[in-house]
Amino acid sequence: MDITAPRGTNDILPPESLKWQYIEDTARDILKRYNYQEIRTPIFEETQLFQRGIGEATDIVEKEMYTFDDKGGRSITLRPEGTAAVVRSFLENKIYGQAQPTKYYYFGPMFRYERPQSGRYRQFHQLGVEVLGTDSPVLDAEVILLGLQILAELGLADLEVLINSVGCPECRTEYREQLRDYFAANLEDMCSDCQSRYDRNPLRILDCKSKECQQHLEGAPEIYDSLCTECSEHFDQVKNHLDELAVDYTIDPALVRGLDYYTKTAFEIVYTGLGAQDTIFGGGRYDGLAEEIGQREIPGIGFAMGIERIILALEEQEVELSLTVDLDLFIITIGEAAQKTAFKYLAKLREAGCRVEMDYLDRSVKGQMKCADRTNAQYSIILGENELEAGVATIRNMQSGEQQEIELHNLVSEMESRT
Ligand code: HAM
Repeated sequence: MDITAPRGTNDILPPESLKWQYIEDTARDILKRYNYQEIRTPIFEETQLFQRGIGEATDIVEKEMYTFDDKGGRSITLRPEGTAAVVRSFLENKIYGQAQPTKYYYFGPMFRYERPQSGRYRQFHQLGVEVLGTDSPVLDAEVILLGLQILAELGLADLEVLINSVGCPECRTEYREQLRDYFAANLEDMCSDCQSRYDRNPLRILDCKSKECQQHLEGAPEIYDSLCTECSEHFDQVKNHLDELAVDYTIDPALVRGLDYYTKTAFEIVYTGLGAQDTIFGGGRYDGLAEEIGQREIPGIGFAMGIERIILALEEQEVELSLTVDLDLFIITIGEAAQKTAFKYLAKLREAGCRVEMDYLDRSVKGQMKCADRTNAQYSIILGENELEAGVATIRNMQSGEQQEIELHNLVSEMESRT
């Protein structure tokens, strides 16, 4: 076949899809405990939402968006992330008129035209949370704790929490000048990306991974001296809350994140076992985003974690998830009449909550036994002409080999009592 899935996309097949369900179920359970509710926004949005929200000078907006004109001539973009759309929805639906804060979460595919490699895809999936309507540093600590708890309950260990403050537009104006002064002398030796970042967004230079820039990054001024009193106090309080929760973290002055909307707290949770793409989740505060999108001052904070990266980390750490798909009962049939009867029993058993299956391919009894084995059925039962006539059949425990004769009309209650 010459048609394949587009580059950078993945099919999620069973049994792999069970892992996805397990991750989602675990996360939903924890999100409920933290009082977050699900929001679902469209997969595509007007392009200008991301241009204004994420920032024109970011890699995402400059190089990575899937943007096209629809048949009505509107510029549409497949969402590269979830935050801008959540804020758009919050404003459009006037949720700010309700009691605050609003705590949302979302799961879903995101799209970025990146160079695919392990842990980096063009369609990938995020679990994100966004808290709108409060600038309390308690929430900064809460979202970090929430993310860590999800990963811990999935069984992941050895995670590193990196935090920073990127200040507000006022603090950054001063800091940008300091960075420009510092990098000016070596700009010619730096990579072309950093040369263009120098004018437009010198903070991003701090995040540069290219070899030629590394030596110039050491000794760069840190933002902390430029933080205004409010941002500085806010950062102190976030750190205090994390200390009180006994969360281990490292302050990383070079953590600037790739989206322009961040203010004050920025953080990333890293698992170094993942190699180059080692950030499992990242986020931060975005107190100016609602104003950028809808001229309203609404503070917000959130994070998004990459589900593919969680799965890679689980595999790397050899975490065994308890994924059960085993059947309760496999009905083996001999002949057409038995097949018909079995099909009726399947319906009744499924109504009663049992996981049951039969053969649809007219396999031999031996072949059907193999199917029962392959599906890890706990019990099997053989239905043939004799059984139908007598109204009795033998139910077999597939593990112990124990057998018991039962009256067929009791099959549902028998299975209910056994499962
Ligand atoms: P982000 O850092 O761009 O932040 O992405 C968050 C996470 O999504 C990453 O840490 C990574 O796990 C995953 N991810 C990103 N790009 C890819 C990719 N190409 N392939 C696989 N996984 C990827 C945001 O998206 C912000 N909206 C997070 C946020 C929410 N900030 C505040 N609220």
